[in-house]
Amino acid sequence: MSPGSEEHKNLFCRFFIDTHKPFQPEDLPWPELDGKTVRKLAAFPIWNHAVHTEKQVFIKLTAYAREETDPLLREALALQAYEEGRHADILKYFLKRYNIPFNEMPDDPLPGNLEWRFMTTGAGECIDSFFAFGFLQISKSTSDYPVQLIEAMEPIVQEEARHILFIQNWLLYQRRRRSLFLQPVHAFMTLVAFAEAGRRRLMDLTKLGGTAFTIQARKVEKSSSLSAKDFIDLCLQENKRRLSPYDPRLVRPKLIPRIMNMARAFL
Ligand SMILES: [Fe+2]
Ligand SMILES: [Fe+2]
Repeated sequence: MSPGSEEHKNLFCRFFIDTHKPFQPEDLPWPELDGKTVRKLAAFPIWNHAVHTEKQVFIKLTAYAREETDPLLREALALQAYEEGRHADILKYFLKRYNIPFNEMPDDPLPGNLEWRFMTTGAGECIDSFFAFGFLQISKSTSDYPVQLIEAMEPIVQEEARHILFIQNWLLYQRRRRSLFLQPVHAFMTLVAFAEAGRRRLMDLTKLGGTAFTIQARKVEKSSSLSAKDFIDLCLQENKRRLSPYDPRLVRPKLIPRIMNMARAFL
């Protein structure tokens, strides 16, 4: 199967559509939580931002799917948009269920270049997922949060694994569809998208969660006694495991694992 071919397109779109799981937020096995846990969750300064971000991805990706002329690609993009919208709904359901206060922010205006926006959003998902898969595994082994709550979130986490696999193949497909002259431009723009997504995350961290995130990271560090190197190894292993159920012909996300493998050598 050569990347950029019809066969490639059918493979990564069909994989995505066929592995979609239909469910509603209230179907997830939400556990009963004690007051202490709820207060701890409510103290995170991220909820408004998280609900807003998921909803904006839903809106932008829905608009981008409408622009796509290929019916199969359009169906897969619209499905990913639907899943992002469902993430926003799941978050809202979770916050209401445990009486955690949050505010919905007004929607952003639609950006002009929706394809570029999907590239940067996709790059961001690849960065977030890489670390989230590792963090989640650690949270299961520490007693910071009830395992039942982490388990309830499991379908969403696995959904992110499907998203980054789809995005990686979509990026490669888009690149190979271009003329030989434009392919390096697309490859360069992909790197810019990753750099932009990385920069935004660093800004967000310093802006809203710097303290919360570092405190959390330190706690994880303390309770799990993992070194930075061990943590990267765990992330690499978890990324591999989460993507292993899917067709081996699909191209796996490479950039972040490669960068982290290089960083590991310096630790
Ligand atoms: Fe999401
Ligand atoms: Fe996603």
